[in-house]
Amino acid sequence: MRALRPLVASLLLGGCGVASPAACPADLPAACPSPAPSFDGSVHDVIVRRCAICHGPNGENPGRPLETYEQIVPQRSEMLSQVYACRMPPPGAAPPTESERLALLGWLVCGAPNN
Ligand code: HEC
Repeated sequence: MRALRPLVASLLLGGCGVASPAACPADLPAACPSPAPSFDGSVHDVIVRRCAICHGPNGENPGRPLETYEQIVPQRSEMLSQVYACRMPPPGAAPPTESERLALLGWLVCGAPNN
């Protein structure tokens, strides 16, 4: 995966400044969906499955843990930009399904409520 980073960086930086990989959908919710996606009901499971496998004590990036609400909430704006640009999960890791992605992005647009 590390060997892919320069390629990914060139893809991300190569366009007009907001470029993202070709397959990345431009699907950011314009506003907080109603009802807001539930952290306890679905979003936490998505983050555990798609992010915390690496962002936890036994993962590739233990220094940026994403396991608990308290760890997640201060990182919400970086998470939003990384997930929206399809930079996280990184190439090679299983991407979220469309419904997982929309739940996660919607919840982040809502300001990451503890709901
Ligand atoms: C396969 C392992 C892996 C998975 C899965 C993964 N990450 Fe990462 N993440 C990393 C590594 C390694 C870094 C540090 C190097 C980098 O930025 O590529 C990182 C960096 C980050 C950063 C900091 C980026 C920056 O520019 O400083 C954020 C935010 C992040 N990840 C969020 C997420 C989120 C949210 C998910 C789930 C949707 C996720 N990651 C899934 C391995 C992973």
